[in-house]
Amino acid sequence: MEKEAEANRIDKHHRRFIYLIEQLKMIPINSGNKQELMSFLYKLSYYAENSFQDEEIILNRHKCPNYANHRAEHKKFIQNMNQIQQLFIENSESILPDLLLLLDDWYENHILRLDNQEKHFYETA
Ligand SMILES: [Fe+2]
Repeated sequence: MEKEAEANRIDKHHRRFIYLIEQLKMIPINSGNKQELMSFLYKLSYYAENSFQDEEIILNRHKCPNYANHRAEHKKFIQNMNQIQQLFIENSESILPDLLLLLDDWYENHILRLDNQEKHFYETA
């Protein structure tokens, strides 16, 4: 029962991520998008901090042997995201292409690969 609740939570995080990518793709590429991008970056930070922490707690509880490496990937994503955020704050140069690249890469190489490989730790048989 608990495993089912955990699997549902992770699933919900992944759906939220896909929704965030869709939202980002709707932001127009022009100089008037500063406010929208700023609010998107806040939402993304909130998402990353919360969903990664939740997933780490679950993986740790089930003694996932790859826990440290998985956690390191989450940390790296947050670093990359903070770097883009910093660039955005420092100058108004468009960060949209970098941000899209980061999110697409994360979806392909983390969510579909690592998260998927390790879901058997909390998924019901
Ligand atoms: Fe993950």
